[in-house]
Amino acid sequence: MKLAINGGTPVASAPPRVDWPEYDDGDRKRLIEVLESRSWGGFPAPAPRTAEFGAAFAARHGAKFGVGVTNGSVTLEVALGALDIQAGDEVIAPCYTWVATAACAVHMNAVPVLVDVDPATYCIDCDQVEAAITERTRAIIPVHLGANMADMDRLMAIADKRGIPVIEDCAHAHGAAWRGRGAGSIGSIGSFSFQSSKLMTAGEGGAVITSDGTLAQRLQSIVNCGRKEPGYDGFDGWPLGVNARMTEFQAAVLIGQLERLDEATRRRAEGAAALARGLAEVGGLAPLSVDERVTTRAAYQLVMRYDPSAFGGAHRDAFLRALNAEGIEAYGPFYVPLPDHKLFNAESRHWPMLRERYGDGIKAANARGELQFPVAARAAYDEAVWLHYPYLMAGQGAIDTIVEAVAKIRANAHELAV
Ligand SMILES: Cc1ncc(COP(=O)(O)O)c(C=O)c1O
Repeated sequence: MKLAINGGTPVASAPPRVDWPEYDDGDRKRLIEVLESRSWGGFPAPAPRTAEFGAAFAARHGAKFGVGVTNGSVTLEVALGALDIQAGDEVIAPCYTWVATAACAVHMNAVPVLVDVDPATYCIDCDQVEAAITERTRAIIPVHLGANMADMDRLMAIADKRGIPVIEDCAHAHGAAWRGRGAGSIGSIGSFSFQSSKLMTAGEGGAVITSDGTLAQRLQSIVNCGRKEPGYDGFDGWPLGVNARMTEFQAAVLIGQLERLDEATRRRAEGAAALARGLAEVGGLAPLSVDERVTTRAAYQLVMRYDPSAFGGAHRDAFLRALNAEGIEAYGPFYVPLPDHKLFNAESRHWPMLRERYGDGIKAANARGELQFPVAARAAYDEAVWLHYPYLMAGQGAIDTIVEAVAKIRANAHELAV
């Protein structure tokens, strides 16, 4: 059987995945209610639907307070602001993530300190976190990556011992739980994104959750231009805020997304488990193992590890080209180590607090070979295969098609360019 990349018939004539995001008549009704109310914006903040959504979203994750925000990048900046991060403070973050996880520190005139990831989960390496802590460290931002969670037991032990706040970047982890505790409720603040690709979406959007009443007030104030309105005026000083308010249209959509979250999480976890079983029969491609302390698994992207020896020594990218040709869109360098990312262009002429540690900027430091992250580099350039969740929600037939495509490539690996 010829591989599709060489002119054979693809295993899947169309990608075997569900259309996403899902919506229903409840969403239609809420959106029309917002439209007809003529109260579309987020001001006065929090607006009623945003307040309703924030509270329900926080409760779903086991936190006391939730604040709606424009997106999941600004959430991280707002979180650092609420924690009173100051110029030159150090913020530890993993290097294998989306740019925003570390760019937030740069935007706050702080200094991101990047560390490598754990080879088992591709989440932040706690040994490296411990080694990177200095007297200037003021926050740690782990990312619950793909379908995994960072080792929150170890991380909280390291952070609590030194009184360093943890901001959980939960952009991939809506609904996940670590030993029964909701993602985002374990550290001081949880940050979520509702951008189009995410597990819950309003096209764009974000939320921060916390159980600390003062932090919640500071977060709400900063999101609302620094105002101190009744209900969030119980702290000293005036933070420099920003308009990062969620709109009522976003909140209306997110209320429905939250109603469906548990069901969607279950479908995704089942799909991920079925795919792991199917791929185990084929060999050569296996999802990363999930820590058993992850008691509810959110599968934003199923991240798998490719073994070239099962495919005649062919490089991961040759395999991916073949897989895409068979009708399965999966990605390799989904993330790259941040100093390699063309969008992570943090220069000291714009953010002078970077100069002491990084010279002209974080890129420049990389050019000198000072920022090397071997685990993340191996994942990005050789090993990782990322599959988006709509594939995991399309039922057993879709899973069988994916497994069939991988099996076909393995059986015909001699056709791949090595
Ligand atoms: C890990 C991570 N953090 C932060 C963000 C930023 O979220 P947003 O796209 O809503 O700004 C994303 C989303 O792309 C992400 O994947």
